[in-house]
Amino acid sequence: MEARPVAFVTGGASGIGRATVLRLVDDGFHVAAADRDSERLDDLAASRDHITVHTVDVRDQASIARAMADYPEIRALVCVAGIYQPRAFEDITMDDFRLMLDVNLLGVFAAAQTVLRRMPGGGRIVTVSSRAAIGGTNFAHYVASKAGVIGLTRAMAMELRPRRIAVNSVAPGFTDTPMTRSMPPEQYTQAQALEPSGMAADPDDIAGAIAFLANPATRFITGQTLFVDGGKSL
Ligand code: NAI
Repeated sequence: MEARPVAFVTGGASGIGRATVLRLVDDGFHVAAADRDSERLDDLAASRDHITVHTVDVRDQASIARAMADYPEIRALVCVAGIYQPRAFEDITMDDFRLMLDVNLLGVFAAAQTVLRRMPGGGRIVTVSSRAAIGGTNFAHYVASKAGVIGLTRAMAMELRPRRIAVNSVAPGFTDTPMTRSMPPEQYTQAQALEPSGMAADPDDIAGAIAFLANPATRFITGQTLFVDGGKSL
């Protein structure tokens, strides 16, 4: 039997990342799930075959490199790891802002740069930005980090074209995950009511778009941001 191609997913332990790991296994990948939450990773590894897990902090490029060293070739990298810490603009400290950029933006850079030597014949990189990249209130540092992810995605797409690496971003709208469920319930309900369909996306809705862009058949799509937000950004 032919060996499965490898996909490496950061933030794979929870929410959108976890749904993406399971979807990529369904699509025939062996998936390396990397996350800082080792408890949830163990739970994920026990749930299905074709998954290996790695405790990684995306702020630490060496920890990413150690995890990737287990795979001579990685066909697809999906950068999902992220944090969301709502704060009014005037309450965001410099440390809050730096942490946000370190995880949400530099974490993508660190993983994408490290994967290059494992993609000798080309591959796919999918980043996860957010509909919030086009604006929002009470999380300016998050908005800036996600707008940065879109810029980084476009820059990587241009520079990595000669290596046959396609780089795209998925920009989810409000999605039902542990991240959004950590909001006070009344805020969650309010946010849901503001969606065009009156409901949050399911992590599988986002994972489907990510898996599409990770698929070898989409090699000619690059530098794009696919909004998966039920039309809210229209
Ligand atoms: P989640 O909180 O359920 O999952 C995020 C995962 O990232 C967790 O497993 C966490 O441990 C991991 N992570 C956080 N910091 C890390 C670090 N330094 N190193 C390694 N792993 C780390 O969140 P969710 O909702 O699944 O979000 C996934 C991505 O989608 C994030 O980038 C988020 O910003 C983005 N997104 C989420 C939306 C939503 O409504 N849930 C909307 C738009 C974008």
